[in-house]
Amino acid sequence: TLIALFMIIAAYLLGSISSAILVCRAMNLPDPRTEGSGNPGATNVLRLGGRFAAVLVLFCDMLKGTIPVWLSYYLGINPFFLGLIAVAACLGHMFPVFFQFKGGKGVATALGAMAPIGLDLAGALIACWLIVVVVTQYSSLAAIVTVLMAPLFTWLIKPQFTMPVAMLCCLILLRHQANIKRLLEKKEPKIWNKNKPLP
Ligand code: G3P
Repeated sequence: TLIALFMIIAAYLLGSISSAILVCRAMNLPDPRTEGSGNPGATNVLRLGGRFAAVLVLFCDMLKGTIPVWLSYYLGINPFFLGLIAVAACLGHMFPVFFQFKGGKGVATALGAMAPIGLDLAGALIACWLIVVVVTQYSSLAAIVTVLMAPLFTWLIKPQFTMPVAMLCCLILLRHQANIKRLLEKKEPKIWNKNKPLP
């Protein structure tokens, strides 16, 4: 358990490194915390900086989930603690100690954290997210639908991870309250703006 506690802290600190803020700074793009939707995540970087910057942010944010969970799995840490480590990584991303505790929503980091459970699960989650994005063009709605489906997919593929995945999904869902309100009011920005081509 001592090693699990250490991994929880390490995951939180790694999660606190905001790829969106750093990539935007490095590429001279607007600050994702003040422009677009105001969310430092891959979706908003797509709006502000285009595909390359967004894919870079997506990849780095996913690694913040994958690295600590993968490492912990090989250290023999049990599924419950693996779940806590994944939650810690997402909490770091959402409330980063290095950026005044103002972070993102944890979608990419959660996906990265769930990926070590199995590529079949990761594939199912990505497919679900993509289908909703293509049909509705709302990144937030895609994330919401995907986290609602994730515990079911996990139960079908690797039942021992259902509880930890459900824990993680609740956290992501809670973080989308503002999006849910905007979706209901039909004020939610789309993943990209049709009238304004991607930068
Ligand atoms: O990944 C966050 C996404 O679900 C919503 O992003 O910028 O549209 O609030 P955004």
